[in-house]
Amino acid sequence: MEKASSLNADDQALIRASKTNWSRHWDQVAKGPLPYRPGASGFKQFLRQCGGVELAWRLVLKEMDWPQGLRILEAGCGTGELSVRFVIRGNQVIFMDTSQSALECARKACSGAKNAAFIQASIFDLPFKGEGFDRAFNVGVLDHFSTAGRQQASGEMLRIVKPHGRVVVLTNDARSFIHPLVMRFALKRGRWPFGFKEGVRSLQTELNLSSKEFSVWEYGQGLISQFEFLHYLVPGRREVHKIFSRLFFIVSLPFSLLNKFPGQYLVTVVEKIRIAQQQHISEQHKT
Ligand SMILES: C[S@@+](CC[C@H](N)C(=O)[O-])C[C@H]1O[C@@H](n2cnc3c(N)ncnc32)[C@H](O)[C@@H]1O
Repeated sequence: MEKASSLNADDQALIRASKTNWSRHWDQVAKGPLPYRPGASGFKQFLRQCGGVELAWRLVLKEMDWPQGLRILEAGCGTGELSVRFVIRGNQVIFMDTSQSALECARKACSGAKNAAFIQASIFDLPFKGEGFDRAFNVGVLDHFSTAGRQQASGEMLRIVKPHGRVVVLTNDARSFIHPLVMRFALKRGRWPFGFKEGVRSLQTELNLSSKEFSVWEYGQGLISQFEFLHYLVPGRREVHKIFSRLFFIVSLPFSLLNKFPGQYLVTVVEKIRIAQQQHISEQHKT
């Protein structure tokens, strides 16, 4: 049962649906080989730079301030394609998801690394006491929930980061024109197994955090990467989608700089302000 203080029955229904849809999806995925190669080469990353995964990685890495040797939580890690890279960079990473199958894939990807741990839990009720993490993040998780759900999930992530720690959230940007069109099309044809997913206009506005306690910044990126979603228009098997993705990577490469403009992702970063910093800010206000 979720810690459901401010969540009504509709909010709760979305949370349950997301858990069920994703679990079903990951159960299928886990039957096959690992869907990615952990620690992809720099050249492969370069070729795929317009894809959603590589763009998300660059954004998360930058906004987490290139962490090394830090304690990181990915709350809704899926198969761990991003977090395994933080493990390789020497961070202590907790992979957390509601799906056991997804966590099994992530465990396989980490192949016994001592600095990785795997916990099945919900973002609405994080099983951690105190402010034990330097960073917490997720990609494509909060857009499955209502505004109240996003507020509660963000509150949980903020609760467990240390003073001066950061929470980084990537959601689908409500300004993306491709995503809702493709999702509607794919839903009608039974090619969208993930259920409700809504672009977010501003998580910063939804959270409405005190500027005395938190420093918040937000922006959109992914004008080109959003077109990768078009693969849902293509009927057929996984192999056909792979061919589409490869073509997309090649065709989009010359336009990669355009990803600096809003499109696929809304990036929201919240930093807990240190006590000393708070004093410094109030001193500045006095002068
Ligand atoms: C878009 S996927 C994340 C994919 C991930 N970024 C990756 O690289 O594989 C959303 C994830 O959120 C997870 N999820 C759904 N409801 C959740 C909840 N209440 N708490 C934590 N995770 C949840 C799903 O199981 C799924 O793995």
